[in-house]
Amino acid sequence: MRKKIYLDYASTTPLDKDVLRAMLPYMKGEYGNPSSSHVFGQRAMAGVDNARSIVAGFLGCELEEVVFTGSATEADNMAIRGVADKEKPHVITSVIEHEAVLAPCQELEAQGLATVTYIGVDEDGIVNVKDVENAIKKNTVLVSIMYANSEIGTVQPIAEIGRMLKKVNTKRTRKILFHTDAVQAVNYLDCNVDLLSVDLLTLSSHKIYGPKGVGALYIRSGAEIDPLVIGGGQEKGMRSGTENVAGIVGFGAALLKVQDPKIKLHRIKIRQMRDALIKSILKLIPEVQVNGSLKNRLANNVNVSFKDVEGFEVVVALDQRGIAVSTGSACSERRHEPSHVLLALGRSGKDAMSSLRMTLGRGTDRQDIEHVMRILTKTVERLRKKRV
Ligand SMILES: Cc1ncc(COP(=O)(O)O)c(C=O)c1O
Repeated sequence: MRKKIYLDYASTTPLDKDVLRAMLPYMKGEYGNPSSSHVFGQRAMAGVDNARSIVAGFLGCELEEVVFTGSATEADNMAIRGVADKEKPHVITSVIEHEAVLAPCQELEAQGLATVTYIGVDEDGIVNVKDVENAIKKNTVLVSIMYANSEIGTVQPIAEIGRMLKKVNTKRTRKILFHTDAVQAVNYLDCNVDLLSVDLLTLSSHKIYGPKGVGALYIRSGAEIDPLVIGGGQEKGMRSGTENVAGIVGFGAALLKVQDPKIKLHRIKIRQMRDALIKSILKLIPEVQVNGSLKNRLANNVNVSFKDVEGFEVVVALDQRGIAVSTGSACSERRHEPSHVLLALGRSGKDAMSSLRMTLGRGTDRQDIEHVMRILTKTVERLRKKRV
């Protein structure tokens, strides 16, 4: 039987074997509570501290500026909710953010704790820096724009927005904080916080071949953010609860591997395979549209719409042939709704239901791409025939 082909790396990634090896001691003998003073606690804390130094090294920040969380969703929620106060501040975000940012923004609005401006994107799925600048109000306290989009892989001009905000902030007493959700960017882009001029940055472990259930929020020293979870005061009071030691150790190991020269080199191969896949789709399948900029795009992302075919039907048909892909958003797939990202690009509701996302990763090879192309071409043809 042919091996299963996984092309859903933007959804999650398999656990790297070196990451598992790094985690195992903390799931067995090293079971101490990092808050304990005895040697068991000290050894557990050493594991957490080592992971923190890897994250800080990757981001180019201080150790105290890294807060481990239970997920990127939690980190996004903390960045958004953490700025709310009685004065009903103003927040700027974009319409193509992940639900982990959009939902807390909508919740703050509903609770009367903030007003929010959702800025649009161009037809390529890119935020315009000028639109962000024009949306700034006297009481704006936070701008949250994702680094790379999870559905269409478009890369946003974070460094430019950061520079613009830095300039704007020189004339303000209450500075506008700049948050970016970098979850999808980590495998492919430079996340140095000074280069990007961000104050808050979200990371997730399971998108980088680390364990699930671990994330982090970078909080620039001096940025005033309230914790979401309070209690025992772990993570310098910013995230109470006994640390997920093995998970955090795994997260650190995964982030170390992201920076391995061999892994970095492999990204070129991923990009080449991705380009070959897009080229074949455009050549072999009629009436297909690529969603999002091809230029400013993550190296592993393919997102296309086939006219008159529902993306979900393709997902199910390919799954039956051992190929795992997605429509782009787990949330809209679950609710069977058009993708909010594609609607933001100006696609009709019908077109937005027809998207298919294929995201490549470390396990993808050329034979996989060739096999997927053969099955995909036949599948789209068959589904179209069924419609007429
Ligand atoms: C851009 C982005 N932000 C946040 C998340 C949520 O990450 P987590 O599963 O760690 O909560 C995801 C996951 O799909 C994502 O793609």
